[in-house]
This record gives sequence, structure tokens and C-alpha cells, in this order.
Amino acid sequence: MKEQIVQLKEKALAAIENAGDVKSLEDVKVAYMGKKGELTAVLKQMGGLSPEERPIIGALANEVRELFETEYNTKIKALTHAEILAKMESKKIDITLPPLNRRKMGSRHPLNIVLDEIKEIFTSMGYTMVYGPEVEETKYVFDLLNTAESHPARDEQDTFYINDKTILRTQTSSVQIRTMLKNKPPIAIISPGRVYRRDEVDATHSPIFHQCEGLVVDKGITFADLKGTLEIFFKRLYDDDNIKLRFRPHNFPYTEPSAEVDLSCFKCGGRGCSFCKNEGWIEMLGCGMVHPQVLLNCGIDPEEYTGFAFGMGIDRITMMRYEIDDLRLMYENDMRFLKQF
Ligand code: DAH
Repeated sequence: MKEQIVQLKEKALAAIENAGDVKSLEDVKVAYMGKKGELTAVLKQMGGLSPEERPIIGALANEVRELFETEYNTKIKALTHAEILAKMESKKIDITLPPLNRRKMGSRHPLNIVLDEIKEIFTSMGYTMVYGPEVEETKYVFDLLNTAESHPARDEQDTFYINDKTILRTQTSSVQIRTMLKNKPPIAIISPGRVYRRDEVDATHSPIFHQCEGLVVDKGITFADLKGTLEIFFKRLYDDDNIKLRFRPHNFPYTEPSAEVDLSCFKCGGRGCSFCKNEGWIEMLGCGMVHPQVLLNCGIDPEEYTGFAFGMGIDRITMMRYEIDDLRLMYENDMRFLKQF
């Protein structure tokens, strides 16, 4: 029996030695040391031994079992480690490779770049920013702005009506009224925002576009203040001291006198080019002295106060600034266009 156990020991240790992976090593353990294992089978025969032999065989069996455990533990550690290493090796990633689905970085929209500069210039001159609603009552967009019921601007052909008294505002001028009803002069505000008109989309028209309104009301405000303000504004916006402004008489119901302002073409300096259609001038905005009736409508005494107002198209200014020749580009969200700014 002793022979048997010694043989078994050799066989078992050789089997541990030969086990190539964790799974087969565990099988070896079961085969020799398990309940139905070979060592157990041999020990079951111990009943037939003499009382003198029994402790000797028992001690030998324990020795073998301990030796087996030690060898087994060492081997299983080595195999587990090797398997982890192999796994890591097979799943290795190269962290220096660029990602497959790299998120694209966004950039500021050209309209926002220009709008931020407009805000910056006017706030540096002491103006406050205010905002008004886009879904607006006709009294703010037309009535209190001295715009008669019969005025063509109110036509359903040009304006999106929600009901008789509610529209999508066609101009930011509505914010003038809201501001004057709530505040006493001195007032100096600008108000940028979206406006809506029933236009077919083409290279120069869109049913949605952007305006920036300006309003100054105080004692002693004159047309010279309006001219000086706009001149400083455009020189700073286009970073060009040679820019010239041209005021042409016009008619708006809410200003008297009213003017449209052209800018000397910054592409040709006024000599005439394809950009300004050989005019040398580019139309930029509408403005004027606030009509006394509008002041009265808002509870401001026109004998005491005067004011000027202007409204400019931000899309137009942006297109000029970046020489964009099609308004649709601003609204199509094409990355190839947007990432150029
Ligand atoms: N509201 C005018 C437009 O949409 C622009 C404008 C003209 C605004 C004269 C004004 C102004 O404040 O005084 O074309």
C-alpha cells in the first residue's frame, strides 16, 4: 500500500506539472484528491491494515496530501497569472490611435459672433440690453408705434397673424414701446432678436431673420446724436475709420424725420464693385427721431424729451462682414459652412 501511495504521489505531481491551464489543473485535483479521487480510493483500503501499519500509512497519506496542496497552489497562481496576462495581451488597445467616432467640436454661429460684437460696442457706450417677446400684440408692433390700421406693413400678406391682435413680430421696434411704457427717460437700450415676415426663401429673403433695435430718449437728444452714434458704431464694427455713412430721407410712421442709412462699400471703398452692385453704397438700417406721437402714446412728454431710434438687420450686417452671398447658408446648419468662422 505504501508503494501504491508513493506511486500515486509521483503520478499526481507529474499531472500538476503537466496541467497547461487552470481548468485542467482543477481536474487533476478532483481526480486525485476529490471524494472519488485516487488517494481517497487508496485510503479506503486502510481498514485492512494492521494497527501498527495504520498510523504510518496515515502519516504518509497526509504528507502526500500536503505536498499536493503546496504544489497545486503554486501552480494555480502561476496559471491564473499567465491567463490574465494572455487576456490583457489579446485585448490590448492602442491609446494613441485617434478615436473612430470623434465628436466634432461646434463653433459659434456667424450671426452670434456679430451680435456679440454689436452688444459689446453698445454696452460700452452705456446702453442696456433688453429683450421682447417674438409672439407679440399688434398694439406694440403697430398701434402704439403710430402705424395706422391701413398701413401696408400690417397686411396679412406680409405678417404672420395668430389672431386679430396677436402676430409674430415683424420688427423689433415693438420693444421701444414696451421699454418706454415701463421706464422713464433717460433711456438708452438695444434689443436684438428674431423677427418674422411672410417672405419666400431666396438668397436675400427668409421668413425668419434678426434685427437689433436701438432707442435713446432724454432731454436734448438731436439728430446729430443719432448720426454720431451710428458712425462710431459702424467704424468699430468693421474696424475701419474710413467708413462713411449716408443718410437718405425715408418714411417710417414712428420716426420724424426718418432716414435710411447706407454704408460706403467696404469692399471697394465706394468706387463701385459687384458687391455693392456698382452703387458704392450698401443699405444698412432705418432710423430717425422718435415721433412725438409715439412718445405721447407711452406717457412721455415730447415737449420735455426727444429721442432717436434705429433698427438694423443683423443677417445683412453679418453677410457683409463675411462676404456671404446667400442668406440661406445661415439657416441650413451645414458644418462645412459653419466651421469657417
Ligand atoms: N422697423 C424698421 C424695419 O423693420 C427699422 C427701423 C426704422 C427701426 C426706423 C427704427 C426706426 O427704430 O426708427 O425695417
